[in-house]
Amino acid sequence: MNTLVIGGAGYIGSHVVLALLEAGHRVRVFDNLSTGREENLQQEAEFFRGDIMDPAGLQAAMEEPFGAATGGEQAAGGRGAGAAAAGPTGAGAAGSAGSAGNSRTSAQHSGAPAAGATPAGGRGAEDGGTGTQAVIHLAALKAAGESMEKPGEYARQNIMGTVNILEAMAAAGTKLMVFSSSAAVYGNPEYLPIDEEHPAEPENFYGFTKLEIERILAWYLRLKGIRYAALRYFNAAGYDPAGRITGLERQPQNLLPVIMECAAGRRREVQIFGNDYDTPDGTGVRDYVHVSDLAAAHLSALELIAGSGPQAAGSGVGNRPQAAGSRPESDGETSPGTLANPSDAGRSAGEGETESLTLNLGSGKGFSVMEVLEAARRISGRPIPARVTGRRPGDPAKLMAASARAREILGWSPRCSDLDTLVETTWRVYKAANPAGSG
Ligand SMILES: NC(=O)c1ccc[n+]([C@@H]2O[C@H](COP(=O)([O-])OP(=O)(O)OC[C@H]3O[C@@H](n4cnc5c(N)ncnc54)[C@H](O)[C@@H]3O)[C@@H](O)[C@H]2O)c1
Repeated sequence: MNTLVIGGAGYIGSHVVLALLEAGHRVRVFDNLSTGREENLQQEAEFFRGDIMDPAGLQAAMEEPFGAATGGEQAAGGRGAGAAAAGPTGAGAAGSAGSAGNSRTSAQHSGAPAAGATPAGGRGAEDGGTGTQAVIHLAALKAAGESMEKPGEYARQNIMGTVNILEAMAAAGTKLMVFSSSAAVYGNPEYLPIDEEHPAEPENFYGFTKLEIERILAWYLRLKGIRYAALRYFNAAGYDPAGRITGLERQPQNLLPVIMECAAGRRREVQIFGNDYDTPDGTGVRDYVHVSDLAAAHLSALELIAGSGPQAAGSGVGNRPQAAGSRPESDGETSPGTLANPSDAGRSAGEGETESLTLNLGSGKGFSVMEVLEAARRISGRPIPARVTGRRPGDPAKLMAASARAREILGWSPRCSDLDTLVETTWRVYKAANPAGSG
């Protein structure tokens, strides 16, 4: 399938790109490199540098035939470019939408499909053309604390940016969207583990933007026939076990990269926010899910809404995007809010057709801050100084996902989300990036 991965140079997106390429999909990355990294880009994937706040650039990246570019980075809009020198080198480059003419010189990003890749779902968008058939949307501002200080910026980038993408999809006839949602939609847990029926009452503006986007997705399903999977990640951690992703997260706020920065000598100490919680060792417990497991779930979710997933197999329905504006009889007068209701996760348009999914992605296991720290000390052999400071307001003692629905609907189960694999795969990357680190 021709898949546009928006935010594909980022931490999670780059792992999703790997999974797609491995499965034989054609991949185009669209990213402004604000937090993403060029070194995360794969040679087999096309790269369009652009911003989701630029509708013309998005449109160009959506509609440009896959495989038309012959090399180099494509600047897909007014804000694009800046990585190195030289203009877009691909034939029919999306830079026509406003290339600033300064992209990378090398043909590192060949624009050709992966070696041996077979497009997995026809040749193009709805009509068998060569444009984008599916979008995986990971681009967002994601710092919960910052979102409370800059709600306007978060609303613009996250909510309006997503509307821009959906509009470009509608115009191009692209009918499949996998969206990076977040456990932040739930707010403070009323019970554990958190399943998809748990009330969604975000504690921060970031979580609010994700919930609003889920509701907007339900409307675009109804109005434009765009099927979607909203995947509510818990704490993403780890790196590609095969070592193919090496870009460190910029200004990380999550526990494991912070610990790793400390182990690698890039940071002085780890702050432990509270050790008097009602948990076995007093420190907060969180659900960590390996990025490669997350990536695998994206693939399964995409296949399911495309009609080629495990539940569709044998149904004879296949990949048949629903016509714009049409809704199945069974939806009746159901409001879009109801469509977005997690109880509709795996909602079917007909036998074998799934038109929307809302799923938790977590390992279902919790590790405390101290457990992660101790594992990191053991695996890295570094002392990793840590200091206990006060609790942060709004931090619950424990957060764990119920992931039964993803297991059941996607046939997904985390394979790399044990603590040692999470830490080892991350440490390998941080150690390589800081060979002369402390210790
Ligand atoms: N990391 C986690 O634990 C976690 C948990 C829950 C949800 N999420 C969600 O997953 C997604 C990916 O997160 P990540 O950790 O990989 O973050 P990341 O910052 O590494 O990736 C985001 C990518 O989007 C790009 N981007 C940002 N704004 C853009 C814009 N306006 N136009 C084009 N590209 C833009 C960035 O350059 C980056 O490559 C985000 O939507 C985030 O909210 C992450």
